Amino acid sequence: SNSRPLRIMISGAPASGKGTQCELITDKYGLVHIAAGDLLRAEISSGSENGKRAKEYMDKGQLVPDEIVVMMVKDRLLQPDSQEKGWLLDGYPRSLSQAIALKDLGFQPDLFILLEVPEELLVERVVGRRLDPITGKIYHLTYSPPETDEIASRLTQRFDDTEEKVKLRLQTHHQNVEAVLSMYKDIIIKVDGSALKQDVFAEIDMALSKLLEQKTASESVA
Ligand code: AP5
Repeated sequence: SNSRPLRIMISGAPASGKGTQCELITDKYGLVHIAAGDLLRAEISSGSENGKRAKEYMDKGQLVPDEIVVMMVKDRLLQPDSQEKGWLLDGYPRSLSQAIALKDLGFQPDLFILLEVPEELLVERVVGRRLDPITGKIYHLTYSPPETDEIASRLTQRFDDTEEKVKLRLQTHHQNVEAVLSMYKDIIIKVDGSALKQDVFAEIDMALSKLLEQKTASESVA
């Protein structure tokens, strides 16, 4: 069908499971996953001036300035694949100014997913997280261990995944989250992110299929 594709935002504290749920959502719904943190880490790897500047903020668990982040996310949203398949925006917007910038550019989501996880679980998730540099898949030494020894031997850790740094990232999150939520209050669903990852996904999956049904119904009436 030529109906307008889904446009989704996902938000939550550091290590609340955004990236993990995005893997499951894109597998099923084919949306383009746009993660602000991944775009920034790619910029750091490229060795650019913007990347060097961004890393100074990420090292302190602070928000990277808007003039770097807004442009990066906007460029990715404007790519033809995001326009055609729909998008899943992960970790953006993280401040009122970022939300306003996006709105002014004409990007409005259909749904805003908020993952809620008690703080005492977050530190453990962060320090146990590992990444597969080949597939990009997210693991956890306890909760999602690697499938083979070969994968286990190549896993890496993020530079900001220490107990000390996650506390700073959490502080930044708390300072900004309410202002962002206020922009999307009519389209928020709150999901218990402390459940097993498949159960968290089941709840998100239900909301997304309902949304697709509603869209199809309203488009066939119109
Ligand atoms: P970013 O990369 O976005 O990091 P974050 O928000 O701290 O989130 P994480 O990626 O740490 O966690 P996640 O929620 O994706 O959890 P995951 O699925 O991996 O941002 C990094 C930095 O970049 C920021 O600090 C900031 O400086 C900068 N930045 C980013 N966006 C910006 C913006 N818009 N503006 C300005 N600056 C920005 O899961 C975590 C672990 O838990 C994994 O090991 C996973 O296996 C495990 N896990 C997941 N789900 C479950 C479950 N249900 N049960 C048990 N374990 C689970």
